[in-house]
Amino acid sequence: MLAFTTACTGGTVQGRPGASGLRDPFFPKAGNAGYDVRHYGLDLVYRPDSGRLDGTAVITARAGQGLSSFNLDLVGLDVEDVTVQGEGARYNRTGQELTVRPAEDLKKGEEFRTVVRYSGKPKAVEDPDGSEEGWIRTGDGAVGVGEPTGSMAWFPGNHHPSDKAAYDITLSVPKGYEAVSNGLLASRADRDGQTVFRWHSAEPMASYLATAAVGPYKISTGTTASGIPVYNAVVPGQAAKSADALARIPEIVEWGSGRFGPYPFAAAGAIVEDEGTLGYALETQTRPVYPGAPTVDLVLHEMAHQWFGNSVSPKSWKDMWLNEGFATYAEWLWSEDHGGPTAQERFTAFEEGDTDVDPAADSDWAEFPPASPPGPERISADPVYYRGAMVLHRIRQEVGDEKFFALVRGWAAEHRHGNANTADFTAYAQAKTGHDLDEVWEVWLYGKGRPST
Ligand code: ARG
Ligand code: ZN
Repeated sequence: MLAFTTACTGGTVQGRPGASGLRDPFFPKAGNAGYDVRHYGLDLVYRPDSGRLDGTAVITARAGQGLSSFNLDLVGLDVEDVTVQGEGARYNRTGQELTVRPAEDLKKGEEFRTVVRYSGKPKAVEDPDGSEEGWIRTGDGAVGVGEPTGSMAWFPGNHHPSDKAAYDITLSVPKGYEAVSNGLLASRADRDGQTVFRWHSAEPMASYLATAAVGPYKISTGTTASGIPVYNAVVPGQAAKSADALARIPEIVEWGSGRFGPYPFAAAGAIVEDEGTLGYALETQTRPVYPGAPTVDLVLHEMAHQWFGNSVSPKSWKDMWLNEGFATYAEWLWSEDHGGPTAQERFTAFEEGDTDVDPAADSDWAEFPPASPPGPERISADPVYYRGAMVLHRIRQEVGDEKFFALVRGWAAEHRHGNANTADFTAYAQAKTGHDLDEVWEVWLYGKGRPST
């Protein structure tokens, strides 16, 4: 709770505290109400030997109400000072909440700039499912990964996918290291024994998709047929093993553009860490992070998230199947288009538990309905992925290929660079296809128990 009383400045502006969470069904304290971030400018100086980070976050936001105070999410690290509109601001910290009280109340609709200077050793944080995210130290470097709430371990912000923003991330590292983030590399310069990398993301990004990776990477670059620049950073020990799968990125971007509509971002690529440094791959925007050399299927999955998850982002963490069901179904489609099992064959394999067709077919995909995971510890569980994909295939069975692919492309276009939830999807699917899909929703998407056709 906020300890401040509401200030009334000169009798003209009256603000009240912005709420300290967005009431996400699974992560109620994640994000903050009362403002909307437009842009993050992060200036991060990192020392891989000690693990120390010195950061300045310049957060440009628009007030959605009169604000006497507002919150940012940040865990660990020391805050050195905070200014709002150039003036020193009071602040305090409780748990993940950094509460900022500007010298003057902010008016509804006002665009304001908050600068937070902070430092310390950012840490890995444990997910409800026991996996690690946040700031992960690798052999000779580190990487920031944030799904669902780890990004607050390395920069202050409105850490909920419903508040997307543009980013400029500057990384300064000792000479000899590479530093990689999302988007386009705007400049790279050596200065006083440091190398300064400026990364630019113009398209909106949810904070869980931001990354900063520091290490002795080998860099390779290329361009897709339609002119999207590709920038890959791979730890030396994984370079040879990664080469074939990463070489397919341009083809995957083109294939995805054909299936799902125009690629949503100005850049593509990959960051490959050593095996064992991370528990999973993450679809960090434009440049997914991989825990060791990826397979083509894994690259395909993470690139499919660029459309589904990154451009069309969930409104809440309960809507994860819209990310994972689509990315999994993209794998099925890629297989179908490349001489592997068809999506129908995979669907049947899951119904029958036939692991010859798909090694995951005997997983517990029916354990819970994808639209309502039992809790935050299950948002990355099998039903979200596989039964999510089966929901999409059930729609395809009902409406036929032509309407189904128009639906998939239409969905990516309708919410491009936005947010959507399950109700948005079911309403859109019905309207777009003109079919009554109630059975699919009731049995496959929301129904308890094991559905069958
Ligand atoms: N979204 C990632 C992917 O499917 C997986 C993240 C898994 N996270 C976790 N905490 N288990 O590509
Ligand atoms: Zn995924």
